[in-house]
Amino acid sequence: MSNNRGSFSGKIGFVLAAAGSAVGLGNLWRFPYLAAQYGGGIFLLVYLILTITFGFALMTAEIAIGRKAGLSVVGAYRYLDKRFSFMGYISAIIPMIILPYYSVIGGWVTKYLFAFATGDSKEAISDTYFSTFTSKPIEPLIWFLIFIALTAIVVLFGVDKGVERVSKVMMPVLVVLTIFISIYTMFLPGALEGVKYYLTPDISKFSVKTVLAAMGQLFYSMSISMGIMITFGSYLKKDVSIEKSVKSIEWFDTGIAFFAGLMIVPAVFAFSGGNEEALGQGPGLMFVTLPKVFDVMAGGTFMGITFFLLVLLAALTSSISLMETIVSIFQDKLGLGRKMSCLIVIGICLLLGIPSSLGSGIWSEIKILGFQFLDFFDFISNSVLMPIVALITCIFVGYIIKPKSLIEEVELSGPFKRKNLFVIVIKYFAPVCIVLILISSILSGFGIWSI
Ligand code: PHE
Repeated sequence: MSNNRGSFSGKIGFVLAAAGSAVGLGNLWRFPYLAAQYGGGIFLLVYLILTITFGFALMTAEIAIGRKAGLSVVGAYRYLDKRFSFMGYISAIIPMIILPYYSVIGGWVTKYLFAFATGDSKEAISDTYFSTFTSKPIEPLIWFLIFIALTAIVVLFGVDKGVERVSKVMMPVLVVLTIFISIYTMFLPGALEGVKYYLTPDISKFSVKTVLAAMGQLFYSMSISMGIMITFGSYLKKDVSIEKSVKSIEWFDTGIAFFAGLMIVPAVFAFSGGNEEALGQGPGLMFVTLPKVFDVMAGGTFMGITFFLLVLLAALTSSISLMETIVSIFQDKLGLGRKMSCLIVIGICLLLGIPSSLGSGIWSEIKILGFQFLDFFDFISNSVLMPIVALITCIFVGYIIKPKSLIEEVELSGPFKRKNLFVIVIKYFAPVCIVLILISSILSGFGIWSI
């Protein structure tokens, strides 16, 4: 079954492709906004601690499962224990739910890049530009289709020729651009207050919600619990160190999120005169506030183009990994060719993406459980299905196949230094934390308790 599967040429290709999946809108848009909302420095600190414990253990487990089985997510669970085949199906559904709405947002980013590149940046700074654009029926759909087409082209070229090649170029560019813009922003007048807010942990701002928000962000940001890392692991050669790869991916993901915060939080302070409320805008923060920032900056149009190009590249590498995961499931399970699988995925994207896009405009009155389409898909995947998958993964690894079997897989390519940490997190720490996230996110999703 695993014949004709692509493979990564080595550690660098693997790390860049996995980091490409992890680094996306979650880092550039969601992380800074959450950091701002949940107390700046204290959120950052909690996030970092969770990354090196929880994130490390779950990502290692997923990559090791994938490589051990040599199959994408549906086959991998069945291969390791027949009773857990259902896990493959749940984790396969998650990327199918995320990809369509992710592409809608990717389309918005593409539109902003286009607006800046064609000299429309003056209009993009108006307060209503974002809402006027996203509520139109046709135009956002066209950008959504462009975004899906860009993703599909890379996936069609296959793993090593497509995903790996694109990631190898995109990721280093992304790192350089993020650092460049954040340094630029830090030197803006008034930005220093924001830098302080972002970097100094204020214990009085700590609460359970800080931990829960940081943990939810961790799932999303590291692309764990949706079969993506299992699929990538199945393409990984046995002599590449899983532990070192995970470390590098974490550095990439957390580093980019850190600099994204440093680029956005101080900028908002600088341009709102220190008004902390301006930090709480969510989606608006990136699309509404930053163009204003670019407008008053010297060379702002150039900065705007650079920034939205950066976000587009990051979003694309993530959407490529989502599509790749689904395509590889269709290839393995249904024996379909790559082209056919891609076509089916595009069909799913249209089916779920069109309502997500129209939900910001003419369909905004239609609600599922009180959510508009896009928010509903986001909630179901990130706040319900991903914690469930993560929890069952921990039980599966900790108590069914036992950590030992994955430790052996990791040790195929050298010693596993953080073995004890891995076992403790998988068996005890992670399951307890995940149950907490799950309860809180469901309560907050139904408006009983807001995180
Ligand atoms: N991890 C990506 C980000 O931070 C988002 C993503 C989620 C990518 C799920 C793939 C799968 O934006």
